[in-house]
Amino acid sequence: MKTNRHLMAVLATAMLSLATSAQTITGKYDIPKVPEWAKNAVFYQIYPQTFCDSDGDGIGDLKGIISKLDYVKSLGVDAIWFNPFFDSPFNDAGYDIRDYYKIAPRYGTNEDAKRLFEEAHKRGMHVIFDYVISYTAIDHPWFVASQKQEKNKYSNYYIWTETNWVDPPMEFAGQFVKGYGQRNGQFMRNFYWCQPALNFGFANPDPNQKWQLPANHPDVMAMREDLKNVLRFWMDMGADGFRADMAGALVKTRRVRGNEQFFNTNENETKLFWREIRRLLEKEYPQGFMVAEWSYPSDALDDCFHVDFFHWFKGYNDLFQKESWRILNGVSEGHSYFDAEGKGDVREFLRSYMDQYQKTVGKGYISLPMGNHDNARLGNKRTDKELEIVYAFGFTMPGVPFLYYGNEIGMRQLPTNWPQVEGAYQPRNGARTPMQWSQDKNLGFSTGDANKLYLPVDPSPDAPNVATQEKNPNSLLNKTRRLIALHHSEPALANYAEFVPLYPSAEGQDPYPFVYARAAGNDVVLVMLNPRAEASDATFPVNIAFKRTKLLAGDRFPITRNKKTGNVTISMPATSYAIVKLERSERAEHLGCLRVVGAESEGPTLVDGAPDALLSACLHSHANGCQKHQQDDDSFLHHLSDSLLIWSFRIL
Ligand code: NOJ
Repeated sequence: MKTNRHLMAVLATAMLSLATSAQTITGKYDIPKVPEWAKNAVFYQIYPQTFCDSDGDGIGDLKGIISKLDYVKSLGVDAIWFNPFFDSPFNDAGYDIRDYYKIAPRYGTNEDAKRLFEEAHKRGMHVIFDYVISYTAIDHPWFVASQKQEKNKYSNYYIWTETNWVDPPMEFAGQFVKGYGQRNGQFMRNFYWCQPALNFGFANPDPNQKWQLPANHPDVMAMREDLKNVLRFWMDMGADGFRADMAGALVKTRRVRGNEQFFNTNENETKLFWREIRRLLEKEYPQGFMVAEWSYPSDALDDCFHVDFFHWFKGYNDLFQKESWRILNGVSEGHSYFDAEGKGDVREFLRSYMDQYQKTVGKGYISLPMGNHDNARLGNKRTDKELEIVYAFGFTMPGVPFLYYGNEIGMRQLPTNWPQVEGAYQPRNGARTPMQWSQDKNLGFSTGDANKLYLPVDPSPDAPNVATQEKNPNSLLNKTRRLIALHHSEPALANYAEFVPLYPSAEGQDPYPFVYARAAGNDVVLVMLNPRAEASDATFPVNIAFKRTKLLAGDRFPITRNKKTGNVTISMPATSYAIVKLERSERAEHLGCLRVVGAESEGPTLVDGAPDALLSACLHSHANGCQKHQQDDDSFLHHLSDSLLIWSFRIL
């Protein structure tokens, strides 16, 4: 009985300390091993088809992009990611690459690409390209050779079964294309049918299926070497890294089925390949940056990539696009957290996010992109203010922020009942429409005929545009700029700074607002987001003594701190947010130091009215000081000031 009670008490203490530690702001952080320029970088994503058309043919091009680099720079971003601009039959908008070494003529020439990289560099921006190597276009010369019946160098560059008539085993059902080409066999696809998977081999080849080659087969190795040369070519041209398409779907396996075959095969061999690429960059291009489209950060950041896009997971939909009318894929249902209706629950997102965050913190960055070319625009029935709240989240969460072109002005998701263009089935069509530069013809995107445009421009009379928003200091464009500037200027908002969710924490609490702290050393910032069209109050513990808060961005509302409990109470208006900095009390700083000094001989003294969390940090700091003191009596004064430093650093 006694033992049981003891056990219960131990368990209760353990649970309490877990709950507290999850909410304790320490200011500690580890900067992941990434190139120096990328440590705190913000990226802008450009879709080359629809950014700026310089020659009036209705399709964007590299010269057009170059003419807009000053604008991109003016946003305050550090780097640009370009969707594929290589030669392609465009069955999947250029992801299907036909010639890895050539810019698609509709975008310009390799010389233009070189100039684009140089011009971006001149402006202090870096550039990453789309490295699409899990498959090629169906008319890539390697595949053209591979589909020949007679054996040749490229026969094994793709995955072919032995005969057209026998289907591969069930785990691959739906992944193979039958009846194409001269060769007697079925080939494996990696997305659409016309995107044949390159052969990175099988992690655990089935001995009964001879066509499954091991990952170290010489032909597989030769293919990998060819792909490394592609990377070298663009890095030598001036690129600063890449975003890897479908990064988790290289080495195949019998252990996953269906769509998983092209999202994540969960096989270590895929990681081993990316590690090889990481080592290549470290040796040959040490400033090279690697971003994955994998959405399994604990795999992708395991000494492979510097960043993983975390958007192909339920939690991303929970935030932005849970309603089927928003995501337009017909399979989702529910309520987004960032929605005026206020029926979402951010804890749904936090559950999977925190799991991955804790597994990867200090190893690399998770990115929650602010839109991209595969999702419906964030500006899908959201007002500018609602979008601003989304961006306040996007630029203050840990990891690398990526902003999709046009979202800075609130470009809207357009109707997607148009015929699909280049594989852009809905909602992709409606998120890839031309950038809206001005109120001129075609909203300044192109001087060509409106009916020749790659996709129509937003027809609404109030379609947002850059020129108009430039003139208004309070436009979404200028507010986005200020959020980006804040991301850079506040140490606590750096990509790597500590992240501590504060509210909601317990089941049963109202899910609005969402409050978290970011911290780096002494700098602590609170981010408070209330996307619903209804006021929200919250009370949550903050283990930092502060005198006042300084509003860095957003709205003013009451924030009070109970000195005794350390609890902070806020009352947020409908559709509001605030990013505030905690300003420490100078008196508390002084008191705190004195107490620790006195504590050297007498044991820890409590700071009157200090909240529990503050006290435990005080004791911790004291313990550190004492340990050092005991180690070396002679340097008492030195260590004393050391302990003062630790104390100030940790608490104040
Ligand atoms: C992900 C890309 O972002 C998407 O646009 C493309 O269709 C698929 N991968 C296939 O490459």
